[in-house]
Amino acid sequence: MTTAPARPDEKRPLGGSYDPARTTGGGLGAELDRLEAQAALSFPEELRILRELGLPTGGTVLELGAGPGAVTRRLRAALPADTALIAADIDGELLAHAAGPGVTLLVADGAELPLPDASVDFVLLRYVLQHVPDPVAVLAEVRRVLRPGGRVAVTEVDSALWGAAEPSYPELAGVHAKMAAAQRADGGDRSIGRRLPRLLRAAGFGQPVLRPFATTNDDHPTDAFAPQLGPQRLEPLVARGVLSLAELALAADRWNRFRSDPDAWVMLLGLTVAATAPAGRGPQETA
Ligand SMILES: C[S@@+](CC[C@H](N)C(=O)[O-])C[C@H]1O[C@@H](n2cnc3c(N)ncnc32)[C@H](O)[C@@H]1O
Repeated sequence: MTTAPARPDEKRPLGGSYDPARTTGGGLGAELDRLEAQAALSFPEELRILRELGLPTGGTVLELGAGPGAVTRRLRAALPADTALIAADIDGELLAHAAGPGVTLLVADGAELPLPDASVDFVLLRYVLQHVPDPVAVLAEVRRVLRPGGRVAVTEVDSALWGAAEPSYPELAGVHAKMAAAQRADGGDRSIGRRLPRLLRAAGFGQPVLRPFATTNDDHPTDAFAPQLGPQRLEPLVARGVLSLAELALAADRWNRFRSDPDAWVMLLGLTVAATAPAGRGPQETA
């Protein structure tokens, strides 16, 4: 629909606390691989939940914060050909990777969508709101573009409910706390999962429904979790001075122990919350 604008300032990420070049060691290329690996791990289960929560088989679906399209490609394959799919993102460079047949690209801030009122049937935001300084403003804009009765689904993490591992390494708690604090300092929130139903209500949505989903190494090789759990994810935090080299070395050692232990078990937990756009325009009309 539009072409990518130039980045005004390379040092300031467009997507709130999300900087694709500095999310994992190895830069942008490694981040594209990480998002792809993340979608490969859990999207089949997420899709089952999205269908249960109202993903339509017609009309218009908007994926907001689609990034390079790991989920866009999977959604396109899952939806009937006559369902319109719009992939929107504030970062046009990233979004260009989501281009493909049957996908309309839209470079836009989620808080200011260049879409008419009531023009969309379903909106998905996956791992986006944790990076947004004002999630209610984005959700209110989503509500504007949804038709009355349309559905929004938000998939997120919660750092305190990230999952479980055996063996576990309590000595890494400080590393994870620093990671969450760094995201908070950039305007994000890795504990947003627990807040989703209230954020949706504050934006005027009704009847939020929460569904957790789990991904384990009973179903995937342990190494498939490396892009999310391995030390590469922490390298940019060393470069920023958030973590020390000793902390990175500790995390690398524990990951290597974990992945070479044939009995090691891990479960990652995600949360999807869906809600309904009401007929009225103000949050006060939805009680
Ligand atoms: C962690 S990535 C997730 C990408 C994709 N949803 C996925 O699950 O693979 C977060 C995405 O949200 C986008 N984003 C952050 N803030 C945004 C905003 N205000 N409006 C639109 N997109 C935004 C970022 O540019 C980035 O592409």
